[in-house]
Amino acid sequence: MAEKNFDVVVIGGGPGGYIAAIRAAQLGFNTACIDEWTNDKGGPAPGGTCTNVGCIPSKALLQSSEHFEQAHHHFQDHGIGLDNLSIDVPKMLSRKDLVVKQNNDGILYLFKKNKVTFFHGRGSFAKAAEGGYEIAVAGKQAETIGAKHVVVATGSNARALPGAPFDEVNVLSNDGALKVGAVPRKLGVIGSGVIGLEMGSVWRRLGAEVTVLEALPTFLAAVDEQVAKEAFKAFTKQGLKIELGVKIGEIKNEAGGVTVAYTDAKGGAQSLAVDKLIVSIGRTPNTIGLNAEAVGLKLDERGAIVVDADCKTNLPNVWAIGDVVRGPMLAHKAEEEGVAVAERIAGQHGHVNFNTIPWVIYTSPEIAWVGQTEQQLKAEGRAYKAGSFPFMANGRARALGDTTGFVKFLADAKTDEILGVHIVGPMASELISEAVVAMEFKASAEDIARICHAHPSLSEATKEAALAVDKRTLNF
Ligand code: FAD
Ligand code: NAI
Repeated sequence: MAEKNFDVVVIGGGPGGYIAAIRAAQLGFNTACIDEWTNDKGGPAPGGTCTNVGCIPSKALLQSSEHFEQAHHHFQDHGIGLDNLSIDVPKMLSRKDLVVKQNNDGILYLFKKNKVTFFHGRGSFAKAAEGGYEIAVAGKQAETIGAKHVVVATGSNARALPGAPFDEVNVLSNDGALKVGAVPRKLGVIGSGVIGLEMGSVWRRLGAEVTVLEALPTFLAAVDEQVAKEAFKAFTKQGLKIELGVKIGEIKNEAGGVTVAYTDAKGGAQSLAVDKLIVSIGRTPNTIGLNAEAVGLKLDERGAIVVDADCKTNLPNVWAIGDVVRGPMLAHKAEEEGVAVAERIAGQHGHVNFNTIPWVIYTSPEIAWVGQTEQQLKAEGRAYKAGSFPFMANGRARALGDTTGFVKFLADAKTDEILGVHIVGPMASELISEAVVAMEFKASAEDIARICHAHPSLSEATKEAALAVDKRTLNF
């Protein structure tokens, strides 16, 4: 037996891991969480990719850059004049760092509040032991702790292009993209997915000339086609240059910048010279240093931990959640799995509904959706009705001066059950919650259409889109 023994040991303190640890402690388990993320002072920085180099810092920079964009281009519409507008990039970055630190500290506080024992260091499987596992912790001190249940929540890492390793100076992953110390004159982005569009938008708003190179011939292929089309139009109008259907060739990283050779959609040889290059072509599950072999933990060909629908691995009492397993790489998906696993360990019926996980892209306009897209319903041959409502016809959107986009409902042709809701426009990230709740409760479009929504509010566009399913919008 190890000296310190726990009912539940969580390896990884990102949104999956720290939430799993808190829920396990709430359920009465003696719980530990091990996380190795270290801040620039050598101290712990729990919260994982999401808090340190993902969701939180990217949204801080999106907010700063959106303020700049508003001041630069839109304040004058309100009669507000500004002379000598400037951006202090180091200050913007230190504000972002402060927001990150507040979140790190918040998690350490939550661990204390919930009596979760925190270990700062790397956790790895030492061996299977009687009644559980021994987990080695390599931190300031090395120690071995005992666990009846292990929850692996070790997250993911950015995928590099072959021949173009991240140096985080010129060739940037999400980490370097959040730390660029001055606005690059020219910025290249490979991959027009979520990170490419969000980080491309940040630096474009601040004045960089941004070119995004995407391998697929379709823009945002997973998004509802009508929404993707509207977003493409808006991004292009803002000055984001997006080239689809390219094939990336050699990438030369030299002192003065980066040159990307590529073949365009028509087969022509092209070259793009930029000061900085962000490579955002997806992420790979992270099991580095976990010593999965020591206990025979099964991984798939992508390196993801193999789990069943309940996040059970091939080993008894070893669970895995979040980015390190199948499914969308989203913080809220990781959190839901963390809660569900803690509840399953307690013998309860933990539940994650993959059909109602919302997606949000925090660009301007924002893009948010839940459920199925129109192209998915067509492919399935499902009979559906569609209704949409433009923000152009919404009073609050006009007052805000932000009328791009629309809300779109897809409902079953017979039962009127909501099958998908797709939003492109202002505050789509907040508006989508109503649709998630509606779908969780198996609501019909008619249900939303009959609910009183505050006036004037953007949410009235949601109600009107629900009315549009039955072709009876009131304001359009
Ligand atoms: P992670 O957050 O990656 O956490 C894993 C933790 O485990 C890390 O702290 C790591 O250091 C630690 N660890 C790994 N191995 C060990 C070990 N052996 N011992 C100890 N500790 C270990 N998702 C959203 O939902 N919304 C967003 O707006 C959003 N924005 C994003 C923006 C960017 C730029 C990026 C890169 C991602 C974004 N994501 C967003 C995705 C989101 O960050 C991830 O889905 C989420 O962080 C996954 O959580 P996780 O707990 O599985 O893993
Ligand atoms: P992504 O999967 O969103 O997009 C990657 C893009 O790169 C795709 O369009 C893909 O076709 C393209 N691509 C792949 N290989 C390529 C190549 N060789 N050349 C050119 N293009 C290529 O991945 P991304 O943007 O790296 O983000 C990773 C994950 O992080 C996302 O899938 C998402 O789950 C999460 N995330 C979520 C956010 C949010 O919820 N707002 C924000 C940022 C990230």
